[in-house]
Amino acid sequence: MSLSSSYKPETMDKFFSARIDGYEDHMKESPTYEAEQAQLAEQFDVTSEPVTILDLGCGTGMEIEYILRRVPNARFVCIDLCKEMLDRLEQKYAEVMDQITIIHASYFDYDFGEEAFDYAVAAQTMHHWLYADKLQLYERVYRCLKPTGRFVVADYIVTPDEEYRLLDNYMRLKEDGLLDENKLYHIDIPFSMHTERRVLREAGFRRVETVFEYRSIASNPSLIVAYKEDAACKNE
Ligand SMILES: C[S@@+](CC[C@H](N)C(=O)[O-])C[C@H]1O[C@@H](n2cnc3c(N)ncnc32)[C@H](O)[C@@H]1O
Repeated sequence: MSLSSSYKPETMDKFFSARIDGYEDHMKESPTYEAEQAQLAEQFDVTSEPVTILDLGCGTGMEIEYILRRVPNARFVCIDLCKEMLDRLEQKYAEVMDQITIIHASYFDYDFGEEAFDYAVAAQTMHHWLYADKLQLYERVYRCLKPTGRFVVADYIVTPDEEYRLLDNYMRLKEDGLLDENKLYHIDIPFSMHTERRVLREAGFRRVETVFEYRSIASNPSLIVAYKEDAACKNE
């Protein structure tokens, strides 16, 4: 029997619009939630300058409140394909909407521009894509950053064995004709730390650093910061 015979993949936007009400509480259940957000925010240098930040898959903007504590005048471009998540973000940040531009689109389709941003951030959104698709996306992120730019990637990672097992499941869904090529699905195909660092490096980032990599029964969150140029590194 095919592995996928009883499984109906959900499209990305429907997955999140169906779960919008419990979404933030669910994310906050993680025992490391606060620590993860604090460490993500620490990758942004404290400044009152209006630095530009591209937020890929921003959802309801959970990371934004932490970033704003360090960069209160930041200008965000927030991209998400789920309208309900973006509506929630707009309600939450009503008082700072002059600092936030909302883009309702897939980050695979939207033109980020060239050397336009000081930072890009992607939190909990990149574990659904095949290597080749992620490489092309990360190349575009690389190009949209200023020479001093950083790409902050928070996501869960798995062991190489698990990476292979989940990729194999995904390939079976494809082979069984359960995936429409023109749609994006909420199917987890997370990378190992090795693969995630490799795709960032291959996309052109000169230096890729693992900030943390937790291992627990509940989840394996990680944080990576990729520097466009060596000179962009925090400690140099
Ligand atoms: C788990 S949520 C993370 C939201 C937020 N960054 C956070 O950490 O709370 C993942 C988000 O990525 C968005 N997303 C997934 N694929 C996307 C794509 N191709 N383009 C734009 N948004 C996408 C989903 O709609 C969802 O809002």
